[in-house]
Amino acid sequence: MAKLSIRDLNLRGLRVFVRVDYNVPMEEQDGQMVINDATRIKETLPTLEALIAQGARLILAAHLGRPKGQREPSMSLRPVAAKLADMIGRPVAFVDDCLGEKVEKTAGALKDGDILLLENVRYYDEEEANDPTFAEKLAKVADAYVNDAFGAAHRAHASTEGVARIVGKRGGKCAAGLLMERELKFLGDELEKPAKPFVVILGGAKVSDKIKVIDRLLEKADTILIGGAMAYTFKLAQGFKVGKSLVEPDKTDVAKAALEKAKARGVQFLLPTDNTIVTTVKTDKLNKKGKPIMEFTNPRTNAEANIPDAEEGVDIGPKTAVAFREAILGAKTILWNGPMGIFEDKRFAIGTNAVAQAVVDATAKGAKSIIGGGDSVKALNKAGLGDQVTFMSTGGGASLEFLEGAVLPGVAALSEK
Ligand code: 3PG
Repeated sequence: MAKLSIRDLNLRGLRVFVRVDYNVPMEEQDGQMVINDATRIKETLPTLEALIAQGARLILAAHLGRPKGQREPSMSLRPVAAKLADMIGRPVAFVDDCLGEKVEKTAGALKDGDILLLENVRYYDEEEANDPTFAEKLAKVADAYVNDAFGAAHRAHASTEGVARIVGKRGGKCAAGLLMERELKFLGDELEKPAKPFVVILGGAKVSDKIKVIDRLLEKADTILIGGAMAYTFKLAQGFKVGKSLVEPDKTDVAKAALEKAKARGVQFLLPTDNTIVTTVKTDKLNKKGKPIMEFTNPRTNAEANIPDAEEGVDIGPKTAVAFREAILGAKTILWNGPMGIFEDKRFAIGTNAVAQAVVDATAKGAKSIIGGGDSVKALNKAGLGDQVTFMSTGGGASLEFLEGAVLPGVAALSEK
């Protein structure tokens, strides 16, 4: 059954506890924490505006980083309150706690359409433990519950799950926000029976991170394109040499099984046929973990299927980019999750950018393109193409778990229609 949406409700005059995912990237500048990317805030605005139009009183709760129960000042949501006020064009009250007297007083004084943002719920250990007493305390100010935090919906934490259960038991409504609904529609319903051909592009470092998704999508996809370091594990499984490339030698059996399943189901499974390779040189510098920082030198195309012993693959090559583009342009539905190489270094972003451009061109021709969050969203935005695809998820881990077919606790806790 479908989940209740805020569109089904009128929450006028009610205090609505809205869980949002404001876990935004921040950076310290002149002693101040500054938000680097406000996409996650922007994406909640339609929900907040709809609730304000209904006359609801909004109490927003979120986490930032992983402070592990400590009041880590760099992980305060205060700068987010200021940013949200700017973006929504109305005042946003902020309380430096997420429960207790101060919160109750401020929440009690809210008028219809007012917004209050609470401090980082992860300043308490009980949040991640989904402690029932803690959830009760959070729920004290809530007449209704809305979850718009798709990115955190894979966590069974107090603010994503516990509070919803408590509000629901009391007879209060627990609904999905508009962003949550869109995420579930695109990553769920739209991929249930995708228009064909359905082309799936997967990248990133590890086969082990994506194998469940690969396995599930092998049931539906017409073509699967594999890039990123995970491609080297597949190449190794096929008996090729991968040099010093990042691989998971203990996952070649998993890779082989996926290749066999693809063959049995008639799914076209494309791996890179050429690569950008580099020579890695140890520098004197150490990283934060005390390990030597490696420098990538002498980038060049390796047109062979085997990578030389001393070299490392860091991107797909030009021949592969052309083959991937052709497959993508033939698609009616595209799902992309994971970059094709170390795209953070612009020398090795060529393959990822080529895929991004192909996805955008296919979208312009009428394909539906769904971007499964995390690094592929970053890469698209970096290439200035973020607004030219059908849908970009705000979830990282949550998108992946949802695509694997998992039931997300934050979704399960919402009321049925
Ligand atoms: C995310 O950034 O993926 C979500 O906000 C969840 O954060 P977490 O992985 O720290 O739970």
